[in-house]
Amino acid sequence: MTLNFDLRNTTRIVFGHGRIADLNELVGRDERILLLFGGGSIKSNGVYDEVIRALPSRHVVAFGGVEPNPEYDTIMAAGRLARAENITFVLGVGGGSVIDAAKFLAAVVPMEADDPWDALVTGDAITSPLPNGAVLTLPATGSESNPVSVISRRSRGLKLPFAIELARPRFAVLDPSTTRSLSRRQLENGVVDAVTHVLEQYLTQPANLPVQYGFSETLLSALFEAGPRLIDHPTDDARDTVMWAANQALNGLIGAGVTQDWSTHMIGHAITALYGIDHARSLSLVMPHLLRDRLDSKLAMLSRFGQRVYGLHGDDDRAIALQAIDLLERFFSQMGCPVRMRELPGTRFNVEDIINHLEKAHQLPLGEKRDIAAEDVRRILRAAT
Ligand code: NZQ
Ligand code: ZN
Repeated sequence: MTLNFDLRNTTRIVFGHGRIADLNELVGRDERILLLFGGGSIKSNGVYDEVIRALPSRHVVAFGGVEPNPEYDTIMAAGRLARAENITFVLGVGGGSVIDAAKFLAAVVPMEADDPWDALVTGDAITSPLPNGAVLTLPATGSESNPVSVISRRSRGLKLPFAIELARPRFAVLDPSTTRSLSRRQLENGVVDAVTHVLEQYLTQPANLPVQYGFSETLLSALFEAGPRLIDHPTDDARDTVMWAANQALNGLIGAGVTQDWSTHMIGHAITALYGIDHARSLSLVMPHLLRDRLDSKLAMLSRFGQRVYGLHGDDDRAIALQAIDLLERFFSQMGCPVRMRELPGTRFNVEDIINHLEKAHQLPLGEKRDIAAEDVRRILRAAT
């Protein structure tokens, strides 16, 4: 049965090569803009200049230095600048980290508290975030048209997701040519992250949801086909497909009315918080082992995944499901992402620390049935060593 749902994605998507110029129409003439960016990639690849050119005669204040896995203290510093400059509009230009930070910043600027973290964790006291927009330079997270910000607070050893519906970007410029300067590693990360987003909304409890499942299977097929091409022989066609598929993977559509299982992501966030491993790589490390562990509970959808996406045949659902997990694991490896901790010999993983993060974040038990407790995570992580 379809779960009841409300679906309203208010982000206007402006897709295509050369579309950064459209900012002139998308941002009001009187706005006082805070342009938030990361470590400088937009300065070296020309995107910064393109954005500035598209916003003539606007008051634009730039704030750079948002880190991958954006840090709360950095966003608070941007917030102080935004208040001092009477900023009315936040423009995030970058990957998921910058866009997550821009949305979070938009929410905190109007808040009175010096340290609004706890209020944001509980969802209290969020009133009216500043309007914000996104110029995406890394297809991966879907952040550009969803309400989620994943923010790290290193002083507390935490990396947490915040869903702030009112901070959803008003628009997102998806210009695939901005991705030409991405390193192979970031392209790999983006494809793997998007694949896991689809799977965490698809490999759950079976229901009669042919529309949602069909969307998910199309996205997976597109990412499995265009992802490797993007890495090995990048063409505009592959860039376009991956950018659009990654957006659709986490904009609310495929998740409407389905049970969802974000356990790989929550374990992955803990791994990134503790060891600084790239988001996508923390996921590839966990997902195949988690799926094998949950084989019985996810059997029907794993078998469907094997048949519909990988074209596997036979009468034995279990064999098909296991083969599908093996193929997924091979795909992660093909995309240069680790599937075992031993592939990262420089990192000293401690399973209890990972579980401690999940406990501190009040995320246990995990899974669409809330049946993945600490001892299950322990077993899954042992299988990942
Ligand atoms: O900082 P700059 O200089 O921009 O460099 C970045 C960064 O070093 C670089 N980069 C981005 N665009 C580039 C580029 N380099 C060259 N050319 C370009 N066009 O790539 C590096 C990684 O960027 P980052 O934004 O961190 O990557 P990604 O987009 O993968 O975002 C990861 C963050 O998003 C969160 C993750 O947890 C992580 O913090 N997520 C957000 C989600 C959401 N809002 O819904 C969901 C995801 O599951 C995820 O959790
Ligand atoms: Zn992700």
